[in-house]
Amino acid sequence: MAFLTRNEPGSQSDEPAEVATGARLIPRITIQAFCEHSQTAQLVEAAIHDRRMSKVALTTHNGGIEGAIETYKSNPTPNLILIETTLQPDQIPAALARLAEVCDASTRLIVLGHVNDVVLYRELIRSGVSEYIVLPATGQAIVSAITELFAAEGAAPIGRTIGFISAKGGSGGSTVAHNVGWAISQSLRQDVLILDLDLAFGTVGLNFNQDPPHGLADALMANQKVDQVMLDRLMSKAANHVSLLTAPVVLDRTFDFAERDFEQVIELSQKTTPVVILDIPHTWTSWVRHTIATVDEVIIVAEPDLANLRNAKNLSDTIKALRPTESEPLLVINKIGVPRRPEIPPMEFATSVECRLLGQIPFDAATFGTAANNGQMLAEVSANNRTNEVYRMIGMHVTGRNTPERATSKASSFKLPSFLRKRA
Ligand SMILES: Nc1ncnc2c1ncn2[C@@H]1O[C@H](COP(=O)(O)OP(=O)(O)O)[C@@H](O)[C@H]1O
Ligand SMILES: [Mg+2]
Repeated sequence: MAFLTRNEPGSQSDEPAEVATGARLIPRITIQAFCEHSQTAQLVEAAIHDRRMSKVALTTHNGGIEGAIETYKSNPTPNLILIETTLQPDQIPAALARLAEVCDASTRLIVLGHVNDVVLYRELIRSGVSEYIVLPATGQAIVSAITELFAAEGAAPIGRTIGFISAKGGSGGSTVAHNVGWAISQSLRQDVLILDLDLAFGTVGLNFNQDPPHGLADALMANQKVDQVMLDRLMSKAANHVSLLTAPVVLDRTFDFAERDFEQVIELSQKTTPVVILDIPHTWTSWVRHTIATVDEVIIVAEPDLANLRNAKNLSDTIKALRPTESEPLLVINKIGVPRRPEIPPMEFATSVECRLLGQIPFDAATFGTAANNGQMLAEVSANNRTNEVYRMIGMHVTGRNTPERATSKASSFKLPSFLRKRA
């Protein structure tokens, strides 16, 4: 059937789009489709065979808008929702408004409708729906709309960049970064890429029990030549939804970088993966400062002692000055309760540092030691450990998710999904 459709004289419409965007792959996004008719579900499922969709994780479900609302009351939303509706045009906007209430701010929406109605089309686009496709449509039309949205020349990068830096060497910035990355991949079922910027001593490879021959250094050395295909080759897959760009960890050369040397690799990463975690070493160089100034979120990981307090305060002041209009740095206190160690109480610490305290993690030598020695995440060695919930909560916050606690709290910073924001 696909063969017939493609060669039909009447199927002109997607030809130019296909040519214009032919070379571009859609990034590693998750798509969930809610269909009312089985033919529509088949159409969407067939679209996954298009080569532009090769990195996409797509699932189809029954139930149209109502099905989606039910699902997202208790589940995280993907990067893109495709929704078929058989509602009358005058009922569609209100139904989508109810869907918006249970969706995350970054989720995009494509509506598949049965009514060819320009007024409806305009209203939906105005309210932030990314595209309205009239059924029956070809799989090509659907893939082209997704490509246009996520891979077009001017498309906003899909990846959110989250940098972790320790206030003092050994405070646990890397451990928190890796476990938060893992937690995001498990809770949101979205692809996470972890970059080990500690080229000489990094532990991403060790902590995920991976020893790939290539990684981040190869991408940096390639200078301008690095592209998405190359980056893909250099990544190693550590788990379902977790990829790594590891550090070479060799000392036969030094790693002296200029201010903007990491910029291109980070931007490329953002184009291919929805969540990009940067494990930043505890050093202060021009490129560390520049990277911290440009990422979406910065998390300072500190132990509750005086040296950490001083450094965290310096970091916090500097980061706020570097990025006055961006989100403020967040604080995670790690290794609370080391036996016999005098400690600064976490709330006092956070007040002095003038940072929002996002998480508190107890010291647990046995469990973290086992995880580190086995090259496993905390959740793998200790599934019921309460710290897993702290990692998850940090992950939900930095990816802008509305966890139930936040949605119901008075200080909720609930953002409308993009497909309703313009109207608000
Ligand atoms: N909450 C914790 N309890 C016990 N040990 C921890 C904890 N967090 C991290 N560690 C251990 O501390 C050491 C340093 O952690 P790491 O994340 O490499 O720090 P950094 O990146 O700041 O240098 C590692 O051996 C790690 O397993
Ligand atoms: Mg580290």
